[in-house]
Amino acid sequence: MNLKIAVLPGDGIGPEISVQGVEVLKSIAKKFGHHFEFEPALVGAAAIDAVGDPFPEETYEICRRNDAVLFSAVGDTRFDNDPQAKVRPEQGLLAMRKKLGLYANIRPVETFDSLIHLSPLRKEVVEGADFVCIRELTGGMYFGRKEEGDDRAFDTNLYTRHEVERILRVAYDYARRRRHHLTVVDKANVLASSRLWRRVAKEMASEYPDVTTDFMYVDNAAMRMIQDPRFFDVMVTENTFGDILTDEGSVISGSMGLLPSASTGESTPVFEPVHGSWPQAKGMNIANPLAQILSAAMLLEYFDLADEGALVRKAVAASLEANVRTGDIQVEGLNPCSTSEVGAWITDYIDNAD
Ligand code: IPM
Ligand code: MN
Repeated sequence: MNLKIAVLPGDGIGPEISVQGVEVLKSIAKKFGHHFEFEPALVGAAAIDAVGDPFPEETYEICRRNDAVLFSAVGDTRFDNDPQAKVRPEQGLLAMRKKLGLYANIRPVETFDSLIHLSPLRKEVVEGADFVCIRELTGGMYFGRKEEGDDRAFDTNLYTRHEVERILRVAYDYARRRRHHLTVVDKANVLASSRLWRRVAKEMASEYPDVTTDFMYVDNAAMRMIQDPRFFDVMVTENTFGDILTDEGSVISGSMGLLPSASTGESTPVFEPVHGSWPQAKGMNIANPLAQILSAAMLLEYFDLADEGALVRKAVAASLEANVRTGDIQVEGLNPCSTSEVGAWITDYIDNAD
């Protein structure tokens, strides 16, 4: 297969982990006889510094003309500490989502047996948890009409039937490929927008009789996720709730540094780690590259390269087994490996796999 991949390293540890994701894809291409081309582009603080815009037009064009985007992270402390900043790296991420029409954000929450002790939850509660959160990504309060005055401010949580329906389709399709259980998370006891979600979901449920649909208020879902995470298979929710719940999801597995995500929609899909840019570790070669590498696996799987994706996942699991791990997940008493050591071990594994 020929694939053209835009590479957006961004800020902080982004460039270091980005390299590892690209190297893994190169190894996979070689092994399976594919042809992957890579085109770099600026995003986030790196783009603000270079051209004054966190998602420049040129980056947009590059995303458009490639088949997929391998994204790393944006964010820089220089902007976090400056409430007056006119442009922020995060705006680049939001602009990318909106301009590429990336309405579906897919964030799997998986546990890894060898890392379960790092979970803040008891082993018997979290063991085997395996669910996917599908977060609506281009609507709701993030993009609704806003006003920001000195004495009054508001954000509008607007959703149209069309927006709700298309994200529910993505969620139902995921549920069909998994354990056929969909939980629609909302706040229908209070919010009109949530009641629209619920109405549309109830109408659609009859089209998917093989999927069990249930409804849960977001406050209850937040609680259920820590009490009984195995309850969930696929959950779907609006932008803001999804932002909050996926952060919760990313820590309960104990494997934050391992969680990838995909954002798909009307144009080029984007694959990125769930963790942020960790500016404090920039350039130190200590960041965990596994979430980026697993994002590359999601990219491969998106294009139906299932064996290729599986080999990447196998290589990652093998690196954990071999304790070739960065400091955040290394076993006590063992020396942590660097970002590039972990990456090189994984590409070696792929190169030498039979
Ligand atoms: C995320 C992030 C972003 C969001 C920020 C950086 C704008 O928290 O991808 O979850 O809120 O969507
Ligand atoms: Mn978030």
